[in-house]
Amino acid sequence: MDGSLIDDSTGLRYVHLEISHAERLQELEYLCFPTIDRSDLYDAGDIGRLARAFPEGNFAVFDADRAVGMGLGIRVHFDFDHTQHSLSDLTGSEETGDDPTGRWYYGTDISVDPTYRRRGIGQNLYQLRKRAVRDLGLDGIVAGGVIPGFVDHKHVMSAEEYVQKVVAGELYDATLSFQLENGFEAPGVIGDYITDPAVDNWASLIVWHNPGLDA
Ligand SMILES: CC(C)(COP(=O)(O)OP(=O)(O)OC[C@H]1O[C@@H](n2cnc3c(N)ncnc32)[C@H](O)[C@@H]1OP(=O)(O)O)[C@@H](O)C(=O)NCCC(=O)NCCS
Repeated sequence: MDGSLIDDSTGLRYVHLEISHAERLQELEYLCFPTIDRSDLYDAGDIGRLARAFPEGNFAVFDADRAVGMGLGIRVHFDFDHTQHSLSDLTGSEETGDDPTGRWYYGTDISVDPTYRRRGIGQNLYQLRKRAVRDLGLDGIVAGGVIPGFVDHKHVMSAEEYVQKVVAGELYDATLSFQLENGFEAPGVIGDYITDPAVDNWASLIVWHNPGLDA
């Protein structure tokens, strides 16, 4: 399709984030994260600022005029010796948190409209992020990953045990399993990452290394 960053033959259009997308993507954000406190979510103003600061690393997906997916992120200097952080440490100010000198792409948001899931849109968004990381010569992608399936296990195991079981393939998590499938490692958990009572605010730490820098 004309002007799409990915030709997936489904007629969807993958584009760099633009300020004009902000209102529609705010609605998508609220639809995709129903249990997370809205203070932890992007609103239209945040999305517009991201479009201005780092369009080459931010992506939106449209079916005609309808926003059906987005993959958002910022550049940061990530300290792997101190991985404990909250999402609002990175995105909570009036600024985007994007540091053009940062060596890591921090994935702040990946969302697909529930009625468009399991068609490869999420995977395509990860392809676009990885392409951006390669093109910019960054070290890789890091993020706090939500673990929605933990809600059904939190009374019988810790978040750390849950993540280990998902990594081992013993449990399935709609988000973390998808991220592992897309080449991410999950080396640990992050407490108080977001305000999400369903999972007692836990998230997984997820990391993808740019293979182009391994040599
Ligand atoms: C996580 C999320 C972005 C994935 O988006 P998606 O577009 O459904 O992702 P994909 O279609 O690429 O992959 C999802 C699954 O569908 C499978 N799939 C992909 N195309 C498929 C097809 N044509 N037929 C059947 N299954 C398919 C994938 O293999 C994957 O399976 P897995 O979970 O076993 O790995 C989406 O579920 C979402 O928005 N969740 C809520 C928000 C969220 O949790 N975001 C992450 C924040 S850290």
